[in-house]
Amino acid sequence: MCGIFGFVTVSDRPLGDVLLGAARRLAYRGYDSVGMAAIDGDGHVDLRKDVGRVDEVAARLGFTDLAGRRGIVQLRWATFGAPSRVNAQPHLDSDGDLVGAHNGNVVNNVQLRRLFADEGMIVRSTNDGESCVHAVERYVDRGASMIDAIRQAYRLLEGDYAFVIGSVADDTLYAFKKGSGLVIGLGDGFTCCSSDLPSILPLTARILRMEDGEVATLSAAGVTLHRVSDGAPVAREPEVFTGGMEAAVKGGYPHFMLKEIHEQPRVAAELLHLLDASPHVDPMAEAMQRARHLYYVGCGTSYHACLVGAVYAARLARRPVVPVLAPQFTAQYGPTLEPSDVAVFVSQSGETKDVLNALAVAGARGVTSLGLLNVIGSTLMHKSRTYLPLACGYEISVPATKTFINQVVTFLYLAYRMGGRPTDELRRLPDLLSATLDAVDPAVAALVPLFEGRRDLYQLGYGLTFGIALEGALKLKEITYAHCEGMLSTEFKHGPLSAVDEGYPVIFVAGPEDVPVMVSAVNEVTTRGGRAIAIAEPDARLEANVHDLVALPEAGALLNPLVATIPLQLLAYRLSVARGLDPDFPRNLSKTLTVD
Ligand code: G6P
Repeated sequence: MCGIFGFVTVSDRPLGDVLLGAARRLAYRGYDSVGMAAIDGDGHVDLRKDVGRVDEVAARLGFTDLAGRRGIVQLRWATFGAPSRVNAQPHLDSDGDLVGAHNGNVVNNVQLRRLFADEGMIVRSTNDGESCVHAVERYVDRGASMIDAIRQAYRLLEGDYAFVIGSVADDTLYAFKKGSGLVIGLGDGFTCCSSDLPSILPLTARILRMEDGEVATLSAAGVTLHRVSDGAPVAREPEVFTGGMEAAVKGGYPHFMLKEIHEQPRVAAELLHLLDASPHVDPMAEAMQRARHLYYVGCGTSYHACLVGAVYAARLARRPVVPVLAPQFTAQYGPTLEPSDVAVFVSQSGETKDVLNALAVAGARGVTSLGLLNVIGSTLMHKSRTYLPLACGYEISVPATKTFINQVVTFLYLAYRMGGRPTDELRRLPDLLSATLDAVDPAVAALVPLFEGRRDLYQLGYGLTFGIALEGALKLKEITYAHCEGMLSTEFKHGPLSAVDEGYPVIFVAGPEDVPVMVSAVNEVTTRGGRAIAIAEPDARLEANVHDLVALPEAGALLNPLVATIPLQLLAYRLSVARGLDPDFPRNLSKTLTVD
C-alpha cells in the first residue's frame, strides 16, 4: 500500500539512479503512480510525478536527470480518489518550501483539506499525502522549528501512515510514522528511510527501525530520533540486517502467503479506520437496506465472503440477501432483475471476467451496482456506482487471505450500519486476529501428520461458518492439489458420510452458537471411525466429543468466523509446504482470471 523512500547525502550529486532503484524495489508492493523530488544545496526543488509504471514514467519525465543533496520517491497505491497526476506524490506546501510524501491513509483528510483551504493554504489535490505536508506547513508558518511543527502535525493527522518531508531551509529530511512501517538506513556519507527494508538493503545493511510517536532527522552524517510527545531525544542503536534480500521482501517469512496471513490484524485495523471515516458507508448501507432484492456477487474466495456477509445482514439488519456466484447471478436472476434491486459485486482484483459479465447484465437492467474491491483503478471500481476499498495493499500470493478477511469485515460493518447499530464490537477484531495468530499455530502444526497422503477431505461449517468452511476448503484445494469439499455440517450425512473409514479426518468449524448441531455431526463421523477435528472456542460439549480441538480466542458469534479463518489458512499453508509445493504460485491457477 504505497511506498516512500528518502535519501540524504553530503553534497549535490545525481540522485535519479538511487531513487529509481529504490522505486523499482518498492514496486512489488503494488502502485499506480510514481513521483520523485530532489532538493539541491541551493534549496531548489525539482518535482516530477505521474500515473504509470516506474520505468515508463521515469523515461517520460527524465527521472535520471534529478540531482541534489536530498531526494524523495513515492509509489502511490490509491485508496480513495482515482490515480491522477495531481494526486501522485510527493506534494509541495503552498509556497513550495516543503516537499513530502506519505504511505498509508490519513482518515480525516477531507476535514483537514477544508481546514487548510480555509486557512488560506493552497490545496492542489484530494490526496491525503498533501494534507501531511500542509499539516507541517501550518506550524512552520507560525514560527515552529521543523521538529516542533512535526510534533504538532502528528496530533492533527489521524490514521495509519508513514511520512517523509524536507524543507528548503535546511539540509535534512524528517520522517515519522503512525501505524505503518518505516525503516532507516545508515550508510557511508548518506542516510535513507523507507516504508520497507528491501528498498534499503542494496544500499546498506545498517538499519534502525522506527517506532510510532518518533520523529527522525536524517542528515548525511547520521540520524537523530525525538519523541513526539515531549520532544525528548530517543537513543537506539542501529542493527545489522543479515537476512538477505529475498527474506527482506517476504518480511522474513518463507512465503508471501504466510506474510499476508500475518498482515491480517494490521490491514483489518486500517480498514476499520477507513470505514469509520468513509462518507460512502452510510449511503451504501441505506441503498442496500432499501433494495427490493439485494445480491452479493463474487467468485472463488470473494463468493465465500458473500456467503458470510449474507448471514451478517440477516442477523444484524434483518435484511435478506442472495449470495450468488457471478455467472449464476446472470443465469438464474438475470431475467428477474429490476432497477429497484441492488447488487454488491465483490472482487479482490476488480477484474475477474465472470464478475464483470454479471456487472454488465446488472447495468443493462438498471440495477444499482456497488463494488468491494482491493485494486483501485480496476474496471469494477470504474463501473460500479459506489465502491469501498478493501485497503489491503498488494496481495501477491495467489491464494487470497488478507483480502478475504477484509471482505468479511466490510460486510460485517455494512450489516451493522444497515441495522442502524454501532460498530464498536469491531474494535476488538485486530487484537483478536493477533491473538489467534499467536495461539493456533502449534495446534495446526500438530494436525499436519493426520492429513499425510490424504487426497480428499471435508471441512464442515454451519450458519456463519458455512462460508468459512468453504473458504478453508478452497485454500486447501488451491495449494495442496488435494480435493477438499466445504459443506454444511448437516449435509454430510446425506452422502459424503460414506467416505468415512478408520482415521478419516473431518474438520468442523463450529461457531459458539452452533455447538449442539455440530456435536450431532461430529458423532455421525466418530461412530464410524472418523477423526473429528474442531476449530472452535473451548467448549466442554465439543471437547467431550472431538479428537482434536484448535482452540480459538473467545470472540463471540459475529467475530468468530473471522478468527476461525486463520487456522484454516495456516493448515492449508502448512500442508502445501509439507507436500513440497509452492503455496504462493500453485500450478494451473492465476490470481486474476480475465477470461470466461
Ligand atoms: C481466481 C483466483 C481466486 C479468486 C478468484 C476471484 O480464481 O485464483 O483466488 O478468489 O479468482 O478473484 P477476485 O479478484 O474476483 O476476488
